[in-house]
Amino acid sequence: MLEKKIRCPSCDFVQTVNGEPGQTVKITCPSCNNVGAFQFPKDPSLHPSDDTSSAISVVELTKTFESVSAVDSATFHIKKGEIFGFLGPNGAGKTTTIKAILGLLYPDKGEIRINGTNIFTDEKKAKSQIGYLPEKVAFYDNLTALQNLMFYAEIKQVSKQCCQPLLNEFGLADAVDKKVGAFSKGMLQRLGMARAVMGDPSILILDEPSSGLDPRGVVFMREKIKHMQQRGATVLVSSHILGEIQEMCDRVCIINKGKIVAVDRIDNLGTRLHLRPKIVILLEKMTEKILKAVEKLKDVDHVETTGTLLEVNCLASAKANVILSVVKAGGNIMNLQIREPSLEDVFMRFTED
Ligand SMILES: Nc1ncnc2c1ncn2[C@@H]1O[C@H](COP(=O)(O)OP(=O)(O)OP(=O)(O)O)[C@@H](O)[C@H]1O
Ligand SMILES: [Mg+2]
Repeated sequence: MLEKKIRCPSCDFVQTVNGEPGQTVKITCPSCNNVGAFQFPKDPSLHPSDDTSSAISVVELTKTFESVSAVDSATFHIKKGEIFGFLGPNGAGKTTTIKAILGLLYPDKGEIRINGTNIFTDEKKAKSQIGYLPEKVAFYDNLTALQNLMFYAEIKQVSKQCCQPLLNEFGLADAVDKKVGAFSKGMLQRLGMARAVMGDPSILILDEPSSGLDPRGVVFMREKIKHMQQRGATVLVSSHILGEIQEMCDRVCIINKGKIVAVDRIDNLGTRLHLRPKIVILLEKMTEKILKAVEKLKDVDHVETTGTLLEVNCLASAKANVILSVVKAGGNIMNLQIREPSLEDVFMRFTED
């Protein structure tokens, strides 16, 4: 028989529930009558309570909204110190998962641990380690940027001295005394990030940090995230900007229709899908000899020509041979491009119907 302390998300009342491995126990809060359920882990070895290398552990997380299965048995572990990309199409379940990790939403079943601490039973300890940038950043419109940050500093029990330097750091030095109601989307996003990093949390959870930012702002945000990692933080970042994820993430997790479909390094995912680089060669003149020379090469998958343009899909190890054989067959190369498999290719394949 397993035992679990469950905190009611509505009134904070903590009660102890008992059950067998795999059993789902219905819970009614004796204080406010809020109804929920908790499933004890089927396999105690999956139970992440002894997992000391993970900053965030999500095990069999499930959440249904009426008839919509928003998250379905999602399991993944985020290592301490990594930047972990969380990807998926619109409505895939990213924000729902993030809200559950933050203890803002009570799942139907599953377990979440923050540096080993259960978010639902020891909420205060778990939450104190997290900085959060929500998908929809909200502040008090009639307070200035500085007043808003000072308010959150008080809640987070962080010295208010950090507020002005944070505003400077996030490019809001000129807007310190401006009311937040007059902020542009990009300024709100910067203020949201300043609030998230306040107090140097060991875990940052960023739901679409680049949303609404101009190209310079996107680069700025990416540099800030990398900087936080260098200072030892673990970062969970959800984004639809795949180039940005590819540029900064150590590993990615792809969720589709509530189910986790991949968790790995991007290059490993590309290899698993047998994605190949594509060599695009613009020739002065296309000849039968060039085409035959390329087609007969080992490790060449696919050859296509359009006028004097030659496109070749091959193994990474065959790239140099393709170019050499074109030259040896008398080809005069006017332009050359090598397109490596991108995160976009990986994303499309893992999320296709
Ligand atoms: N409070 C809610 N009530 C009812 N349905 C909800 C609620 N929150 C989310 N959903 C549904 O759950 C599913 C997952 O939504 P979620 O917001 O987690 O997706 P997402 O991956 O963050 O999408 P996006 O990329 O558009 O932000 C969607 O079908 C959504 O309509
Ligand atoms: Mg979302």
